[in-house]
Amino acid sequence: PAKGEKSALTLLIAAPRGFCAGVDRAIEIVERALERYGAPVYVRHEIVHNRYVVDSLKAKGAIFVEELDQVPDDVPVVFSAHGVPKSVPAEAEARKLTYVDATCPLVSKVHRQAERQIEAGRHILFIGHRGHPEVIGTFGQVDPGGMTLVETLEDVATLDFAPEQPLAFLTQTTLSVDDTAAIVDALKERFPHIVGPKAEDICYATSNRQAAVKSIAPGSDLVLVIGAPNSSNSLRLVEVAERCGTSAKLIQRASEIQEEWLAGVGTVGLTAGASAPEELVREVVDKLSEWRVVEEHTLTSAEEKMVFKLPRQLA
Ligand code: F3S
Repeated sequence: PAKGEKSALTLLIAAPRGFCAGVDRAIEIVERALERYGAPVYVRHEIVHNRYVVDSLKAKGAIFVEELDQVPDDVPVVFSAHGVPKSVPAEAEARKLTYVDATCPLVSKVHRQAERQIEAGRHILFIGHRGHPEVIGTFGQVDPGGMTLVETLEDVATLDFAPEQPLAFLTQTTLSVDDTAAIVDALKERFPHIVGPKAEDICYATSNRQAAVKSIAPGSDLVLVIGAPNSSNSLRLVEVAERCGTSAKLIQRASEIQEEWLAGVGTVGLTAGASAPEELVREVVDKLSEWRVVEEHTLTSAEEKMVFKLPRQLA
């Protein structure tokens, strides 16, 4: 291009991307709770891991806290999409709090599987990331000692169970599809009698977003993933892009993009984690358009029609 003229940039936008049905539902629960009960409505933990979403709900009257003891007695409280240990609703009931559980139904499904495996007398090997609220919530469905965390392939070799010990495995919903398959294979090899779900428990949204990144990354010079640093599924999208051999960056907002990143870049891939709203995708397109003449292409690798029902209290 002539001096002062913007050069072209091809933008490959992944689809599906962004909000999943569980995130949609969790946000709607907070909004409806605000309408039904009036502000303030307390929310235990970030409803979904996205600052933009949290800030917009704060502006409508939601108050975010980390633990239930920070919630006053006479206000309603919502539990986040990631799920909570059983002790949390138990405590809310003991205090006679009005509470609404925004746990994603696909996470609740794993909770029920955990209970069933324990009832069947099996010890659970749970594949997940230490410290993530979903992992804390799922561990909190069973008595202490009933579940062991497996984070990596290397962890599998260190597990020590008698050959006759009945075992089951379950997984976090937002893991890397490829890493998890490898861990499950290793578990089955070490413990041939282990039982588990037919597919893993990785949710449809997580696997679809990872597959969509695989379709944009190989043709991109740089992949941008919109998502928060504490968002498990967003971090996995960065890894998937990098494993395709493309450098990838996790950004929370368009303002974080630096013009230098685009030096020598002809094609940018763009996606968003399950907790990132579409507004932020448009914001990134606008930002890139300040520097380059952007030609957008959406690459659709799956259609999603999943919708989850609201809890009865708010339906
Ligand atoms: Fe649920 Fe999967 Fe979204 S577990 S909250 S549908 S990322």
